[in-house]
Amino acid sequence: MKITMIGTGYVGLVTGTCLAETGHRVTCVDLDARKIATLRAGGIPIYEPGLEELVRRNADEGRLQFTTEAEAAIAGADVVFICVGTPQRGDGKADLGSFFKVGEVIGRSIRKYTVIVDKSTVPVGTAERLTRLLRETTKVEFDVVSNPEFLKEGAAIKDFQNPDRIVIGLEGERAREIMTRLYSSHARVNRPVLFVKPQTAELIKYAANAMLAARISFMNSLAPLCEKMGADIKEISKGIGLDTRIGSRFLQASPGYGGSCFPKDVRALVDMMESNQLNAGLIRAIDQLNESHKKSHLARLMKFFPKIDGLQVAVWGLSFKPRTDDIRESPSLTLIEQLLEGGAQVSAYDPEAMANTKRIFPQIAYGHTPYDAVKGAHAVMVLTEWDVFRNLDFDRVKGLMAEPVIIDCRNIYDLDEMRRLGFRITGVGRS
Ligand code: UDX
Repeated sequence: MKITMIGTGYVGLVTGTCLAETGHRVTCVDLDARKIATLRAGGIPIYEPGLEELVRRNADEGRLQFTTEAEAAIAGADVVFICVGTPQRGDGKADLGSFFKVGEVIGRSIRKYTVIVDKSTVPVGTAERLTRLLRETTKVEFDVVSNPEFLKEGAAIKDFQNPDRIVIGLEGERAREIMTRLYSSHARVNRPVLFVKPQTAELIKYAANAMLAARISFMNSLAPLCEKMGADIKEISKGIGLDTRIGSRFLQASPGYGGSCFPKDVRALVDMMESNQLNAGLIRAIDQLNESHKKSHLARLMKFFPKIDGLQVAVWGLSFKPRTDDIRESPSLTLIEQLLEGGAQVSAYDPEAMANTKRIFPQIAYGHTPYDAVKGAHAVMVLTEWDVFRNLDFDRVKGLMAEPVIIDCRNIYDLDEMRRLGFRITGVGRS
């Protein structure tokens, strides 16, 4: 089938490339001419393991191309995906400006029956609104389908190829047949494909992200109690996760969740509920707990030092999670801001996210290695669980530091072993 992706950001590029890999002919469109030129030259504007090779192979074999010409790419397509960003506005609502602008372009450009698939995360009811808008702009037949994406950064290709489920929201047989063909390679390997109404599909996306975020906030809100009582949050995760009704994933206490999805989607769900005069108390608490938890790590540092002013603090890990350079809503940013406000000097190391962080905090020091960053530091705080931090030469680390203090916000170290090595250490939910 001929597929056009509108928006060659993270979701558009990964989805388009993976669809090309399953044999479809895919055109990725973006307004950003520089991005398209980079992609045509074989460069990848984002960091995602395995993506570069996949893009190159599919482009070389003629199944994947890149263009800024939206209208021509839409006119020739059987399926048009909308993959533009729906960022959070100041009032917590999703900003649908680009989304509906793309809708207008699609309305002007389609020439034959086309399935228009929404991959962007949009409030419930948006597929219906888009259908109404398109009916006003074109006489050509079409169907609007909601097909939320559940890709995780850093594991996006694997998530596309082997998803837990594919959710497709639509009405009518014609679109269903095309969507079935589109994902036939997934159906062949028995991945569940769930056909539902568009508004149900839209809400499944928000519900999944809010549920996962709730699990993290639940564990993070138990963390201070564990620290007070001498309990260990990691053992608690294991203890409850072995209950098959609960399951073990997304129960890790952490410095707080971040990224481009959880914070934004939880807030948008609150907004949807409240604008329908519904009680959003439970969902709102997920976000509030996360925000206050992100600010709680300074107090952990202050268990070892009476004041922050004059301290030199190293931060290991800047991205909101490993295997990405993404720092959006990363807890490291909240912490660095607090440290600077408190008068500390900050040095940092991250394998991928330093360039992005430099744009926000040009005034802090960046090390070429984890060792560089801890030179002369009174404490090191682990904010992202990159593998490189797990097996370092800790005698060397201790030798470089002014004081051997570790605040392990990702609970990656064995506390007893670190103490044997001469460190003073605390975790989140264990001490
Ligand atoms: C998430 C969803 O998982 C994905 O399905 C959706 O499409 C987009 O949002 P992503 O934001 O890429 O994906 O990252 P994810 O791996 O889900 O982690 C989100 C945040 O939760 C990270 O900050 C991570 O560190 C944190 N997290 C995750 C925890 O704090 N504890 C956990 O147990 C798991």
